[in-house]
Amino acid sequence: MKICVLGTGYVGLVSAAVFSELGHEVVGLDIDEAKVKSLKAGKIPIYEPGLAELVSHNLDSGRLSFTDFYPEALKGAEVVFICVGTPPKADGSYDSKFVYSAAESIAKNLKNEAVIVIKSTVPPSTAETVKAIIAQTAKVKFSVASVPEFLREGQAVNDALHPNRIVIGADSPQAEQVLTKLHRKFNCPILIMSPASAQLVKYASNSFLATKISFINSMAILADKVGADIADVAKGLGMDPRIGAAFLNPGLGYGGSCFPKDTWALIAFAESLGYDFKFLKQVDQVNNDQIDYFIAKMGNVKGKILTILGLAFKPNTDDVREARSTVLTAKLKKMGAIIHAYDPVVKGEFTDPYQALVNSDGLVLVTEWQMFLDLDWAKVKQVMRRPNIFDGRNFLDKEKLKKIGFKYWGIGRQ
Ligand code: UDX
Repeated sequence: MKICVLGTGYVGLVSAAVFSELGHEVVGLDIDEAKVKSLKAGKIPIYEPGLAELVSHNLDSGRLSFTDFYPEALKGAEVVFICVGTPPKADGSYDSKFVYSAAESIAKNLKNEAVIVIKSTVPPSTAETVKAIIAQTAKVKFSVASVPEFLREGQAVNDALHPNRIVIGADSPQAEQVLTKLHRKFNCPILIMSPASAQLVKYASNSFLATKISFINSMAILADKVGADIADVAKGLGMDPRIGAAFLNPGLGYGGSCFPKDTWALIAFAESLGYDFKFLKQVDQVNNDQIDYFIAKMGNVKGKILTILGLAFKPNTDDVREARSTVLTAKLKKMGAIIHAYDPVVKGEFTDPYQALVNSDGLVLVTEWQMFLDLDWAKVKQVMRRPNIFDGRNFLDKEKLKKIGFKYWGIGRQ
């Protein structure tokens, strides 16, 4: 099948690579000329394990190509994926302007019948608006569908190749048929529903996962108060199959390009319909408060050197959007702390963790990169001024660290 993927950000690039890997002919379209040039040379603008190899392999096979020219990308395409960004507006709702301008450009350049698929995360009414925009100009038959994406950064290639479900929100039997055929090679259930329902599945999934995180973070505070261990609590809780063990890791809260933005957007969307989504507002509030709760463990930070380990919003990515490191750093600086920071992938002022820890009064672990487990802790203790460890992800081996002579603070973990 010939496919056009419009927008080569995270979702677009991974989708283009994976569909070409499955044997489809894919053209990745982006209006950023410089980006297209480097993609053509196999250069990937993001850090995502396995993606560069997948893109190179499919460029070599001839199934994957990139262009900034609409007519070339749309020529013969049976399916056009819209994967452009939907940044948050001041009120938390999504700004769908890039989706709408993509729809206008598609309408002007489409010369053959196609299914236009919205993969960007958008409010449920967007499919209708996109349909109206395209209908104004297009001279050919088309349908509009929503197929939300559930991939996680850092594991995006594997998630896209092995999804646990495909949700197809189709507005016509024709779109349903084409999209079912396109996704046939994935070994998972395919759910067919309306475009509005499909978008709500996406909103609901991310908001529910964010809820689990805020819930366990609240429980971690209680665990601190009664001297319990939140890891044991989460284990006991997660073994109930109705609850499940995933996303019960306490810490500094959730960040990234999806959870914060999607919860705000769902709150704003509900508000636009006259519903006050109080529950989700609390989920967001708990997430914000978690940083203050953690900072309170550090005592008086004025004039202290604190070393942040991990800047990315989670391991195996270079993405710092809504990263807890950013919020934490801003708050600590405001309180008078001197911040040193190191991340194995995100560029900071230090390129070596030990250098970043020289004369430090506290090591603050923010992102659970595997390499931090394997630090030479005797060396760390030697270079630090005071042996204080604040583990914002309950990640480090606290018993081992205590034996070496560190003082250790986790969250819900004594
Ligand atoms: C998420 C969804 O998982 C994915 O399905 C969706 O398509 C996009 O949003 P992503 O943002 O890449 O993916 O990261 P994820 O692994 O879900 O983590 C999000 C944040 O939650 C991170 O900051 C992470 O540290 C935090 N988190 C996750 C926790 O604090 N505790 C957990 O138990 C799990």
